[in-house]
Amino acid sequence: MSDLEKVLAHIDADLDNALDRLFQTVRMKSISTDPAYAGETRACAEWHSKDLEAIGFKSEVRDTPGHPVVLAKNHDAKGTKVLFYGHYDVQPADPLELWEGEPFEPKIVTLPDGSKEIRGRGASDDKGQMMTFIEACRAWKAVTGKLPIPITILLEGEEESGGANLPGFLDAAKDELKADVAMICDTNMWDKETPAITTSLRGLCAEEIFIHAADRDLHSGFYGSAAANPNHILARIIADLRDADGRITIPGFYDGVPEPAPELLAGWDKLGFSEKAFLGEVGLSIPAGEKGRSVLEQTWSRPTCEVNGMHGGYIGDGFKTVIPAVASAKISFRLVYDQDPHKIRAAFRDFVKARVPKDCRVEFTEFGSGRAVAFEVSAPAFQRTQQGMSDEWGKQAAFVGGGGSIPVTTMIKEKLGMDVVMAGFGLSDDRIHSPNEKYSLTSFHKGIRSWARVLAAL
Ligand code: BES
Ligand code: MN
Repeated sequence: MSDLEKVLAHIDADLDNALDRLFQTVRMKSISTDPAYAGETRACAEWHSKDLEAIGFKSEVRDTPGHPVVLAKNHDAKGTKVLFYGHYDVQPADPLELWEGEPFEPKIVTLPDGSKEIRGRGASDDKGQMMTFIEACRAWKAVTGKLPIPITILLEGEEESGGANLPGFLDAAKDELKADVAMICDTNMWDKETPAITTSLRGLCAEEIFIHAADRDLHSGFYGSAAANPNHILARIIADLRDADGRITIPGFYDGVPEPAPELLAGWDKLGFSEKAFLGEVGLSIPAGEKGRSVLEQTWSRPTCEVNGMHGGYIGDGFKTVIPAVASAKISFRLVYDQDPHKIRAAFRDFVKARVPKDCRVEFTEFGSGRAVAFEVSAPAFQRTQQGMSDEWGKQAAFVGGGGSIPVTTMIKEKLGMDVVMAGFGLSDDRIHSPNEKYSLTSFHKGIRSWARVLAAL
């Protein structure tokens, strides 16, 4: 048996223990956006650091002004040096009442077709995904006594909450992080049989706006029509953001957005994507957004503007005839190509200000900003990863675009000058950020086996 075959056999035999370790981290409520969980978030970082020590990494929990970073190194081997990135923080679990079972009490659920899934917040995004890589390292170490290549592991605790402190950390730790290539396991497969490497991600610019009108809530009979209603002002702003064709109307918004290259579009066409199935899975059937552009083109190569939340006035049971003093919305833009998040933010603020009456006031709170990122796949690491994944799944791994954002990817490219291979085993129905998040047991098991092969190939 070759070393790789022994490692794969070890992974199969050790799967229950790997699951047990995954369950331990999923139990920790590392909800980065909510300060109430800062202690548990740190405890989670410490757990991962100890776990990496147990695999022979030299590991540290490094403080930042926010949640800590885990930085671990094992450079005993020679060969392609890899920087692996994952995030140990998770999204809040609410609305809790929509969970079947406890979000932080992970469990295996067997579906009617016999397939099994791991349920829990972070089971997929990103604890389950990042553990596939870590478990592959553990198996190599257990079987051969060492890792096959030099590896640095960076685990972030603020990916889901804006990641304010990572740029500073990357600048400060630049020399320690330098490697030949970076790898991230935080993206999806093409479908449940076909592995995928994501070669582009959208950037993000997110902003919360508060429209303040009267200095108190008002009786809508006494003041209706006479006093500005911030809900109406906000609704007008939001409606104005898109024209009848679905194009975003903020001046300069599409600066730096070329039409996608014909070869790229042709490659995506060949993937055989079904808009009907994609929307059907979530109970919809009519593509929204920009007219005349396919769903894949829109989510992979066009920017979008989405209202993620809005609030104003009375939303409790019953009815209250009130004109609220304030209305607010959380609005985010997904960016592509060379769109500059800072310019977009400024243009959006001007757009909003121009629609707020002089006797009212608008307040802005900045959330995250990051540019889009895209990679050429000619570097050997992409080919070797594709080979490793294809061998495991018995199907050629696809190069795909991605609509989500992983801000560190852009920073690794820009600050550290490295390519990032994004290989992940998530599925589009994993319900990440949503109640009943799951990771398929097959994703977890074959994900670990895939990384074991990729490490060998590198
Ligand atoms: N893992 C996701 C992004 C993702 C999921 C990319 C599936 C491709 C396929 C990541 O953890 C995430 O959710 N990112 C946030 C970033 C934001 C909060 C700054 C996102 O995209 O909303
Ligand atoms: Mn996420």
